[in-house]
Order: sequence, then C-alpha cells, then structure tokens
Amino acid sequence: MATRGATVLATWHFHIEISSKCTLRCPRCARQEVPETLVNTELDLAFFERNFSPEFVQQHVEKITFCGDDGDPIYAHDLIPVIRYIKGIKPVEIVIVTNGSHKKVQWWQELGSVLTEQDTVHFSIDGWDNDSNNLYRVNSDFDSIEQGVKALRSNSKCRLIWAAIAFQFNQDHLYDMISQAQSWGMDGFQTTKSTKFGKIYPAYGGADPLQPADQYISNSHRFERETVLLDVRGLNNHVWKTHPVNIELYKNIKEINGVKPLCEIGNKGLYIDAQGRLFPCCWVANRYQHNSEWKAIATKFDLHRRSLADAVNDAFWSTDFQTFGWQECQTKCAASRVDEKYATEW
Ligand SMILES: C[S@@+](CC[C@H](N)C(=O)[O-])C[C@H]1O[C@@H](n2cnc3c(N)ncnc32)[C@H](O)[C@@H]1O
Ligand code: SF4
Ligand code: SF4
Repeated sequence: MATRGATVLATWHFHIEISSKCTLRCPRCARQEVPETLVNTELDLAFFERNFSPEFVQQHVEKITFCGDDGDPIYAHDLIPVIRYIKGIKPVEIVIVTNGSHKKVQWWQELGSVLTEQDTVHFSIDGWDNDSNNLYRVNSDFDSIEQGVKALRSNSKCRLIWAAIAFQFNQDHLYDMISQAQSWGMDGFQTTKSTKFGKIYPAYGGADPLQPADQYISNSHRFERETVLLDVRGLNNHVWKTHPVNIELYKNIKEINGVKPLCEIGNKGLYIDAQGRLFPCCWVANRYQHNSEWKAIATKFDLHRRSLADAVNDAFWSTDFQTFGWQECQTKCAASRVDEKYATEW
C-alpha cells in the first residue's frame, strides 16, 4: 500500500506520456491544434529504470496510466519492456489508452503476455467501420484495431474497453458499436461527452459539423465519461472498484483557495510528458496558451536532469503551488465540482 502523506502530491498514480508520437491526425487533438510547439519524442526503458527505481515503486506506485496529451503509447519502442520492468518490481495496475491502429498482431500478443486481469486497455474508436472511424480518427486502420483487440482477448485476461467520443456522425450508431464491442469480446463500452464543440468554444464555429446533440456534450469544464459493462466474460464486480487509496485521500482532502486539488487525491495521476517533465496533472501540461506559465515551471522538473523521488519532494509543491491560482485549477478542480464521483473517475 502506498504511503499516504509521504509527499504533498498523490504519488500512488502516474499518468505517463511514454510517446508523443502518433500516426493519426485527429483534428481536435492538441497535436493538430497546437503544432508549433509539438515535440515528437518518447521515453525509453533507461528513463524508467532511473526514475521508477525499485525503492520508489515499492514505496509509492499503485497504478500507471499510459496515455498522454499529444501522442499514443503503442508507438513507444519500449512500452512492453517498461511494463515488464515495472511488473517485475510489484503488480502495479496498468492502464493503456490508445487509438489501436497500425501495430502487428505479434506485438499485441506480446503486450497481452505482460498484462494481467487487473490491467485495462482502452481502445479509442469513434466509428463502426473504417470509413466512419476515419471521420475523426484520421488515418486510423479499422482492421488492425480489430486484430489488436482480438489478439489481446486471446492472449490476456486484461480488461478491454471500447472508448468512443460522441459526435454528430456516431450518436445514432452507439448501439451498433456496443454490439460490435461485445462480439469482439470486450468488457465495457465507454462514452465520452467532450467539450470540444462550437457550443462551448465558439472557435469551432456556430455550425460545428462534429457537434452531437446536447445530451452528448459535457456540462462541466471536463470531459465526462460513462461506462456500461458488457460482462462478456462474467467478470466479478470487484475488479472495477476504485482504488482504496483514492477514496481515502478524497475523504481527507482540504479545500484551499476554492480548490480541492485532484493532484493530491490521485485519480488523474501525476503527469510525466514524453520530454520527461513532471507536471501535477495532464491539464496544466497541455500546450494551449493559457498554460504558458507551466512551461517555465516544468523546466525545474526535468526528470532527465533530476530524479523523480527528488522532484516530488521539491519545496515548490508545499509552498507556491498551494495558491492554485492557475486557470485549470480554478475550473477543473473548483471545490464546488469535486464530489466523490468526480474525484474518483479518470
Ligand atoms: C491525446 S489522446 C492520447 C491517447 C491516444 N492517442 C488516444 O487517442 O486514445 C488522450 C485522450 O484524448 C481523447 N480525445 C481525443 N480527441 C478528443 C476530443 N475531441 N474530445 C474528447 N477527448 C478527445 C482520446 O480519445 C484519449 O482518450
Ligand atoms: S490518436 Fe490520440 S494522440 Fe493520436 S491524434 Fe488522435 S487523439 Fe491525438
Ligand atoms: S488542475 Fe491544478 S489542482 Fe487540479 S489536478 Fe491539475 S494542478 Fe492539481
């Protein structure tokens, strides 16, 4: 069990962008929207051996989510060796969020061999065939996604989730997608209500062609997600429960300057980007203009130059950081918003 209170930040969960590379061009991804400052790079096994030492993992880490703001974890050369290395220390829960395209069956089989029943792979699929998926997942390859899902299903007990963002083009096809997920042997279907539509951000245009009906648009500043269990394999419910450390930290969190910081609870995970910089969450790491102050702060937390153990103990987190004056903190973690559901979901 992770040591609660060992650091100000919740070090039991890390969200890691092991690769900022991607083969797709989803139009509302930061890699497409802010191309000027995009750096295509990845983290290798040596980075993890240095920063996630056996001592650090034993003392702190319960869960690692491989996702990212700009890239896709399956294009990192060392993803499988890194998971094997971490699991060799202790059975850390692994979550992978991926578009699932363009990898060979053999690679998925090998990935399956290092994942267990406590791990989860989210496949981001927004269509029901190659043409419809390419309406948002530009340059995706539906056949290779299907082969990947099926190779994992037959080589691993890990949970497989079909994760769809609701758009105008798919809102009337969600049931077709659910039945396809079921026929592929997947364990759940997650619908994301996004905020990236003209109704919320006028820059996307008054007549936004991607915008779905209001019921599929988030009401908060954050993407909202709902998951239905398909229960194809008759999994016991206990495997879906929130981590007990998460609940304990949520119950004890204090409000500071109108904020209940999720980075001190841990459901979102402390964020490490593909350049090896530590951030308190992926929201402040996003390369949009309103986060420019974090670019400067992050230069202090370059894990190619100092260790993770040292970085999470930096005095900054218990001093200047505690103002929570940044736009993301004031919106995403406003105390009025952070109830138990909000503080325990991804
Ligand atoms: C930048 S992606 C990185 C992981 C991986 N490449 C993928 O797409 O699943 C992080 C998350 O953003 C989601 N995403 C992409 N475009 C989005 C949008 N317009 N609205 C909401 N979420 C979006 C992806 O589905 C994924 O869950
Ligand atoms: S697959 Fe993920 S990282 Fe790649 S462009 Fe789409 S949203 Fe961005
Ligand atoms: S938005 Fe601010 S308070 Fe919330 S998790 Fe991120 S850094 Fe922490």
